[in-house]
Amino acid sequence: MLAPGPGARPALIQGGMGVAVSSWPLARAVAAAGQLGVVSGTALDVVLARRLQDGDPGGHARAALAAFPVPEIAARVLRRYFRAGGREPGTPYAAVPQLRLRQSRPAQELAVVANFTEVWLAKQGHDGPVGVNFLEKVEMAAPAAAYGAMLAGVDVVLVGAGIPRELPRLLSALARHEPVSLPVDVAGADGDRRHTVDLDPAALLGQALPPMPRPAFLAIVAAHVLAEYLARDPSIRPDGFVIEGPLAGGHNAPPRGRLTLDDDGQPGYGPRDEPDLARVAAIGLPFWLAGSYGTPARLREALAAGAAGVQVGTLFALSQESGLRPDLRSQLLDQIRDGTLRVRTDPSASPTGFPFKVAQLPDTLADPQRYGARPRLCDVGYLRVPYLRPNGAVGYRCPAEPVPMYERKGGDAAGTAGRSCLCNALLANVGLGQTRPGGGYAEDPLVTLGSDLDGARAMLRRHAGGWSAAQAVTWLLQARLRRPRDLPLALRSEPGAAAPAALAENADGGGGRPDASGYNGKCCDAVDSGAMQVGQSRLCVLTSDLAVSFPITLCRITPARYVR
Ligand SMILES: Cc1cc2nc3c(=O)[nH]c(=O)nc-3n(C[C@H](O)[C@H](O)[C@H](O)COP(=O)(O)O)c2cc1C
Repeated sequence: MLAPGPGARPALIQGGMGVAVSSWPLARAVAAAGQLGVVSGTALDVVLARRLQDGDPGGHARAALAAFPVPEIAARVLRRYFRAGGREPGTPYAAVPQLRLRQSRPAQELAVVANFTEVWLAKQGHDGPVGVNFLEKVEMAAPAAAYGAMLAGVDVVLVGAGIPRELPRLLSALARHEPVSLPVDVAGADGDRRHTVDLDPAALLGQALPPMPRPAFLAIVAAHVLAEYLARDPSIRPDGFVIEGPLAGGHNAPPRGRLTLDDDGQPGYGPRDEPDLARVAAIGLPFWLAGSYGTPARLREALAAGAAGVQVGTLFALSQESGLRPDLRSQLLDQIRDGTLRVRTDPSASPTGFPFKVAQLPDTLADPQRYGARPRLCDVGYLRVPYLRPNGAVGYRCPAEPVPMYERKGGDAAGTAGRSCLCNALLANVGLGQTRPGGGYAEDPLVTLGSDLDGARAMLRRHAGGWSAAQAVTWLLQARLRRPRDLPLALRSEPGAAAPAALAENADGGGGRPDASGYNGKCCDAVDSGAMQVGQSRLCVLTSDLAVSFPITLCRITPARYVR
């Protein structure tokens, strides 16, 4: 799907957003609009297990499980986790196996089935492209998660937060159902012994399956040097890049050079952190720009720099199909509306050590008092890293766990300061937070968002009550209607004439009818993006422009500006 040609490369990638913020409803909506919808593949085993324990409202997960190619495995997952009608109030969720190098059969079955479920659901009802996003930092999850997503026919795998050297080989082997051994760093281990996480698809599924297509692979990186490094060697070369800057939501690459903090304790980024886009373009692989590219104007800039398009997160995290808890989403929208939302780059919140964007919402762990009141606890464990114990066995530790425990495992207490338990908090963000036994506390959320809110503010001006993913896609893609040759012939050749009947027939196709002044909201998007101008009494129509294969709004065009 990343091959050259009209419509083959999406101009827009909806960024993967974990945990379950870019869940299947969001990815499906974006893919149905013809762009790349991406589910987050992070922690999907716990997400599926908790959804099943909540009774699987709507039956979506069970529908996907019924389509899993090995029914006995799906049945085992269902038996283990599904609770008809949900849990008793106050009952904690059952634990799922934590990540480790040697994974049990139930752990791998759950991970494969969960990733299959998410991608399968995102692909229903349209033939648009669907991707899955993984974090290199959660590398022990990668083989089983990628394999599950591939069984559901995922089109693109995107990996960030690290240097994803091994993914191209891994995906090629999994497409042939071959056993894989992914090298994993073990702290304190010497270079002589290779540590791996293994998956044998045939042994797991108990049967040989026909080869499946290998998905395209996009590496998410911050620097052109990293893109050049990965592109140099064919065995680690991705099919393209997402170049993500420090304003993006979620984790950010650390600044290059010595870490300096501003007065607010945020890492300082400078010119050395800006990727050289001419060098990225010179590599010759397609690339998308991310981090503050969520407006039509920024998409235009990206295209002008030679990018295939942009990857956008924040605008979709705030859309109606986002997995964020509705109360958190509406708090965010309220604060964006009244101009009080602040997003801070926290250098220490994430146990990964990467800077992490935190929306400063009350009643979340962004509030130091709430952070201080939470007992330190690590029981989900995606960000644990393996380390070598004195006896030669491999142990696991996370700097967000209780400090004495971390120290007993050879960790440096200085590395624990300010760390948040992202696993529990991000699950709470999407309504899957743990409740502790015996009437204990419920885990608090900690919300991440990009620091550029311009796109969100512009969307609020158009859709005061919030917007759908399709509306965000339509708005962003207005950018591609800049030049006369992008516009349908009928309108170009007859500026000022009535809209052609074929277009007028579609006037109610999704954007609402024009009001008395000739505006229908979507036209205003086009006008603001600089693509069109609309006269007061003119007709606006919504149609689908087959030439660029995404829904757009067409208006009568002011001739002087757009037709030579
Ligand atoms: C809520 C949220 C969660 C995110 N989680 C991930 C993630 O799990 N993996 C990842 O590669 N990027 C993640 N991102 C980054 C997005 O995929 C995207 O690259 C970024 O948000 C683009 O910048 P923008 O927010 O300015 O549009 C996340 C972003 C947000 C807003």
